[in-house]
Amino acid sequence: MKVIAVVGARPNFMKIAPLMDAFRGESSIEPVLVHTGQHYDHQMSDLFFRQLGIPEPDINLGVRGGSHAVQTGRIMEAFEPVVVQHKPDAVVVVGDVNSTIACGMVAAKLAIKLVHVEAGLRSFDRTMPEEINRVLTDSISDLLFCTEQSGVDNLIREGASEEKIFLVGNVMIDTLLKKLRKAKLSKILDELNLRERKYALLTLHRPTNVDDPTVFSRLLDALEAIQRDLPIVFPIHPRTLKNLDKLGLAQRVEAMKDLRMIDPAGYLDFLKLMSEAKLVLTDSGGIQEETTILKVPCLTLRDSTERPITVDVGSNRVVGTNPARILAGYREVADGRWGTSEIPPLWDGRAGQRITKVLLEQL
Ligand code: UD1
Repeated sequence: MKVIAVVGARPNFMKIAPLMDAFRGESSIEPVLVHTGQHYDHQMSDLFFRQLGIPEPDINLGVRGGSHAVQTGRIMEAFEPVVVQHKPDAVVVVGDVNSTIACGMVAAKLAIKLVHVEAGLRSFDRTMPEEINRVLTDSISDLLFCTEQSGVDNLIREGASEEKIFLVGNVMIDTLLKKLRKAKLSKILDELNLRERKYALLTLHRPTNVDDPTVFSRLLDALEAIQRDLPIVFPIHPRTLKNLDKLGLAQRVEAMKDLRMIDPAGYLDFLKLMSEAKLVLTDSGGIQEETTILKVPCLTLRDSTERPITVDVGSNRVVGTNPARILAGYREVADGRWGTSEIPPLWDGRAGQRITKVLLEQL
C-alpha cells in the first residue's frame, strides 16, 4: 500500500512523526513523505525534522509564503503531478493548515482515498482560516481520525457517516510522550537564566491577535502587568515579529524588562520550557493539548477553542483578549487557586499505531 503523507507547517511535524514511525514498521506500507514548504526557516522546519527523527522528505514542493489563495493554489499546482506520478492508495493529511486542505483537495479530485488525522475539531469561528480548512478537509475525507469525542460528535452532526470516523487519541501527544525525557535534558532554562515554575511562557501568532493593532495592544497591557510579577519568555513567531515592527509596537515590547523575546525554539527546548513553566499563555491550538498532558495551567488568548476537552479536564481556560480576564486567570494560578486536571482518554502515546491498524484494515 503506497501512502503519501503530507506536512507543511510547524505544527504538522510533531503529528507526522509517529505516523512515519508506524508506517515504516509495516512492511506492507510504502510511505512517501511530501513537504509543501509552507514553513521553510531552519527554526520552523529543518530543526524539527532532525529533533523528531522524521526522515528527509522524499519531495519538497518549496511553496513558501503568500496570501491564503496564492499559497493554497501554489501547493495544489505543485502537488497534483506528484500524486499523478506516484498513484498512491491514500493521501494522509494532518491538522488544519493551508497545506492540509490544498493537498486534500488534490487527492479528492484525483479520486485517491483521503485520510484526515485530527478530524472534527471545531471552534465554530469562521473568521479563523484554520476553521475553514478543518470543515472543508473533513467534508472530502474518506477516513476521519479524531483526538477527542467532541470531534466525533461534530462530524456526525455535520452528516459524516459513522463508519468513516475513528476515535484514536492524539498523535501530537505520541510525540510529546516519546520525547519528554530527552527534552528534560535541554539546557534552555540555564541559558535563559530561569528557574522551574518561576516564569510564564507565551506564544502569539493568530492573525486576529497579531495583525490587529488594537487587539495586540490590549494583549500587551495584560502582559505588561504580568511580567512585573513573573518573567515571561516569548519565543516569537516570524509573523508576529514582522507585525511588531509594522504596527509600531516593537518599542513597547522592548521596554518591558521581563518580557523576554527569543527566537522560535526547537521542539526539545520548547517542550522543556512548557514543562517547567508556572503557566503558559497562548493562542496556539496544539499548545492547549500539550499543556494538558504536562498538567501546566494554560490561558488561551482567544474567544473560542476547537479543543474543548482541554477545558473540560481542567487544564485550560479560554480567557480571550480582555486584559481583566487574562489577569484574573493569571491570579488564579499565582494565588494557588487553579485546581487539578485529568488526562483525556486515549492520549497515551499509541495513536499512531491505532491509525496504522485502521488504515491496514480499511484500505
Ligand atoms: C500557519 C498556519 C497556522 C499554524 C501556524 C503555526 C495556516 C492558515 N496557518 O500560520 O494554523 O498555527 O502556521 O506556525 O496554514 N514565515 C517565515 N518563515 C517560516 C514560516 C513562515 O518567515 O518558516 C512567514 C511567512 O512568510 C509569512 C508568515 O510567516 O509572512 C506567516 O506564515 P504562514 O505559513 O502563511 O502562516 P502562519 O502564520 O505561520
